[in-house]
Amino acid sequence: MAWTRIAAANQLQDDEVMPIALGDTQLALFRSAGEFHVTDNVCTHQYALLSDGYVEDGCVECPLHQARFDLRTGEALCAPATRAIRVYPVRVEDGDVLVDVLVDA
Ligand code: FES
Repeated sequence: MAWTRIAAANQLQDDEVMPIALGDTQLALFRSAGEFHVTDNVCTHQYALLSDGYVEDGCVECPLHQARFDLRTGEALCAPATRAIRVYPVRVEDGDVLVDVLVDA
C-alpha cells in the first residue's frame, strides 16, 4: 500500500474530473454521485485524455471517439474501446483524497 494525497475533496464537484500527474503516471480523478474514482488518464483505444471527457452516471465518455468507461470497474462499455482502463483504490481522509498507486520514481 502506498497511499498518496492527490487533491482536496472540495476541489471537485459532482461529474467533474481533473488530471493528476504522479511522476510519469497520468491519472484522472473523478467525482460522480458523490464518490471519487481514480483511473488511468489515457484512453485504451487511441491517445486521448479522459480528463477532457464527459462525466455522467458513474461513467466517462472519451472526448475523441466517445467510448464510455465505467469509473468503478474501468470496463469499456461501448466501441471503439474494447480494453478496460485501470482503476485504483481511493479513500477520503480528513478532507483529502488519497489514492493507492505504485509510482515509478
Ligand atoms: S481515443 Fe478514446 S475512444 Fe478513441
